[in-house]
Amino acid sequence: MNVEYVSLKRHFELYQNEYEQAALRILRSGWFVLGPELEKFEMEFAHHIGRKYCIGVNSGTDALILALRALGIGSGDEVIVPAGSYIASVIGVIENGANPVFVDSDEFLLLDAKKIESAITSRTKAILPVHMYGQPCDMKKIMEIADKHNLLVVEDCAQSHDAAYDGKRTGTFGIMGCFSFYPTKPLGALGDAGAILTDDEEMANQLKMLRNYGSRRKYHNEIAGINSRMDELQAALLRIGLKHIKEDYYLRENIACKYMGGIRNPKVKLPKIQDNVTHSYHLFPLIVDNQGYFQNYLKQHGIKTQIHYPIPPYCAECYETMGYVPADFEKADYIAKHEVSLPIYAGMPEEEVMYVVDVVNSY
Ligand SMILES: Cc1ncc(COP(=O)(O)O)c(C=O)c1O
Repeated sequence: MNVEYVSLKRHFELYQNEYEQAALRILRSGWFVLGPELEKFEMEFAHHIGRKYCIGVNSGTDALILALRALGIGSGDEVIVPAGSYIASVIGVIENGANPVFVDSDEFLLLDAKKIESAITSRTKAILPVHMYGQPCDMKKIMEIADKHNLLVVEDCAQSHDAAYDGKRTGTFGIMGCFSFYPTKPLGALGDAGAILTDDEEMANQLKMLRNYGSRRKYHNEIAGINSRMDELQAALLRIGLKHIKEDYYLRENIACKYMGGIRNPKVKLPKIQDNVTHSYHLFPLIVDNQGYFQNYLKQHGIKTQIHYPIPPYCAECYETMGYVPADFEKADYIAKHEVSLPIYAGMPEEEVMYVVDVVNSY
């Protein structure tokens, strides 16, 4: 049997009629940028997550860049970021001229809150927790540290739509929560899109200007902005996705339960999940001793997998001048060399899930 890592086509087919009608509505409307669909999506998504304001932008990366820019984080400032993350979290810091200060991962493959305080200096302005794989970071501890040291918290929720910590959704803890709607994400557009959520009216107004050439009135550019606007088509398609976000979640949760309950192989470690969280099950990360061999074994049996992520951001070629080596962050390095993500997405057929369980158990 062949098992794709993810099939966006199958997900699209779950709600095909609604997607097609929404797309046609926009094509026929003659209004494509900053219009009524975006306003509706912003209202609906802010309400869904539980924040006052949502500002739609071009991507999750832009959401991070603009969030930090709106907060005035720039040259000479330090932002604490997880060593085990996707590079976009770091791009948000670097594009503002600030310096990322890496902190190692914990047993849950997340920013290790216990190690944050020793990384704080007089230049630290913010902590950027990333709810990797869809599991919330230890937000209780992170918010306590931020309060104690007077630091801002900007959450990277690119993988954690609808995940919650102590019953509170990710993206509602820090001053801002940044979301990606890249097509494979738990809420995905059919192209690039992202958003920033906040309760702070002043920040929301700044962000609306920043995404639109720094302007609130045409040709009056009050601040130095860029062009990062979510288009009407993506907003309309995201409104369909948002309508079905719970159904999609239950479909992924069902797959995760089958993996959790069915995989019994001492060579494979299942993900550890904290008791007080709701996981979004965006990804299903296993830890194995021989990553390449395991991946290849699954491939030989027709199953595609991915590694999140084989090169941690502190080792990215483009950041070579920072001078880090893999061993600088022991746990993040270990994850990069031992993690393998199994297929999980809304629309994955049950027989494929059970086949994956059987093949992993036969390894
Ligand atoms: C943790 C994390 N942050 C940020 C991003 C960036 O989002 P985008 O691809 O929409 O720019 C991603 C995308 O994969 C991500 O996984």
